[in-house]
Amino acid sequence: MSNKILVTGGTGYIGSHTVVELQNKGFDVVVIDNLSNSKIEILTQIEKITGKAPEFANIDLKEKELVFDFFRKNPELSGVIHFAAYKAVGESMDFPMKYYQNNLLSLMNLINGMLNYNTSNLVFSSSCTVYGNPDNLPIDEKAPVKPPISPYGSTKQVCENIIKDNVNSTFLKGISLRYFNPVGAHNSGLIGELPLGVPNNLVPFITQTAIGKRDTLKVFGDDYPTPDGTCIRDYIHVEDLAKAHVVAVERMLEGKQKEDYEIFNLGKGIGNSVFEIIRAFEKVSEKKLPYKIAQRRPGDVPAVWADTQKANEELEWKAERDLNDMLLSAWVWEKKLKEGKVKI
Ligand code: WQD
Repeated sequence: MSNKILVTGGTGYIGSHTVVELQNKGFDVVVIDNLSNSKIEILTQIEKITGKAPEFANIDLKEKELVFDFFRKNPELSGVIHFAAYKAVGESMDFPMKYYQNNLLSLMNLINGMLNYNTSNLVFSSSCTVYGNPDNLPIDEKAPVKPPISPYGSTKQVCENIIKDNVNSTFLKGISLRYFNPVGAHNSGLIGELPLGVPNNLVPFITQTAIGKRDTLKVFGDDYPTPDGTCIRDYIHVEDLAKAHVVAVERMLEGKQKEDYEIFNLGKGIGNSVFEIIRAFEKVSEKKLPYKIAQRRPGDVPAVWADTQKANEELEWKAERDLNDMLLSAWVWEKKLKEGKVKI
């Protein structure tokens, strides 16, 4: 068996950090990306970190013939990690068909390519969004999948079912990794989150406000049923998250799966409110962050954080980096972007 792994969406935020960790563990990596939400210069940044640029194919996974042609030319793949998808909750509310078309068709073409060319191991980038507004906290993998709050969340649920049904009826093996809130940047300061346009997510909006790119942060509601009235989330360092993907691939290659389809929550297991994130950021950056209270954002749930026991025990993986690490790495990255030190 070769040690070549396909990473779709590998020039994206979590994808690029995962490529680095795969290469650090000695895997050969080939990236498929259509560059619709990332930049090809990320490949050079990866090379600066690991000394090797991954192979790259500029393919849109919605083009079935191109996907099959890729698998024909890459028959020796040991596994696939599938990140390539649209992921902005708000945008999905406005353009649901764009999300269904892209996220579902891409996965279906990918799985058909895998089945036609005998590639059996698939790790899928899923999300805690599938849990909706949970009945209990912390959330473990037995928690019910709730009716989706957004088309984005709906595509994640449908994709998980597509994988599960194919695992049940073919040689495919699958692991869905349900992320909580990925934040931060690689400790080299060479790769990080690159939101194109106005950031949807809290931490990049905070760092862009602190650097002067945005006037002020809007806190979407301080009247939630939480201790300080702002929403609580489980923030996890992107490097910890990336490492978990390597562990998941190794689990499959070493035949350690207990079932042919498995699900793992990937979080820190700690809930922090928006105000706590703001205060922690001000401490690590030594910058006062201008913010104002705004209306609640449709689709937000008051509180989610992970029960990480299954991932900790089964994957023998634990998120190591703390909140200060996460926020400082995000801030260092934002400053490098501003100083033009990162040619992207
Ligand atoms: C966090 C908190 C906001 C921005 C989403 C997806 C999830 C994953 C991560 C892809 C919320 C508040 C935010 C702002 C704010 N995406 N906020 N002002 O919504 O928890 O998760 O991104 O994998 O699947 O659902 O993350 O960072 O957008 O919001 O007050 O300008 O920060 O209301 O409470 P979210 P987020």
